[in-house]
Amino acid sequence: MSRRTLRVSKIRNGTVIDHITKGHAMDVVRILGIDGRSVGVVTIAMNVPSEKLGVKDMVKVEGRELNPEEVDRIALMAPNATINIVRNYKVVEKQTVKLPSVVYGMIKCTKPSCISNSENEPVKPIFYVKNEDPPILRCHYCGNIMEEQDILQQF
Ligand code: CTP
Ligand code: ZN
Repeated sequence: MSRRTLRVSKIRNGTVIDHITKGHAMDVVRILGIDGRSVGVVTIAMNVPSEKLGVKDMVKVEGRELNPEEVDRIALMAPNATINIVRNYKVVEKQTVKLPSVVYGMIKCTKPSCISNSENEPVKPIFYVKNEDPPILRCHYCGNIMEEQDILQQF
């Protein structure tokens, strides 16, 4: 491949998170728990031209597939993302993330007095999705509105 066209190379085995909303590549990296101590090749591409989105971000993680909880968290930050599982250079599975209308568990209500935060009551957090992009959630128990920053802080 010529230098002109080589942008990010294909991966052999792992996961490509594609069509990430511009500006959210690092959030995805954080959700996946990738930091300086991680092993394996991780490629982060930002502001890549995209037909669908104009520009997009992309994260490629070699040697790793995602668990359902990670996929759900990515849906909160990048509702258009596609998760491609790559085995032996081929995309063997393509999943479009989907933010459900009700989010169970996953994150905590930011209001300390909310019943879902009480130590002695095993109450599972429940949120209604008021807006997808940027995400805005409303707590089922106390009505607290959680915005993107409140959500991101927890990842
Ligand atoms: N990819 C990769 N390594 C591979 C195979 C694919 O890094 N061995 C990347 C591609 O560069 C692309 C994404 O995984 O960013 C999805 O690949 P593919 O389904 O082949 O591309 P498209 O058909 O363009 O995907 P979409 O329709 O989702 O835009
Ligand atoms: Zn609450």
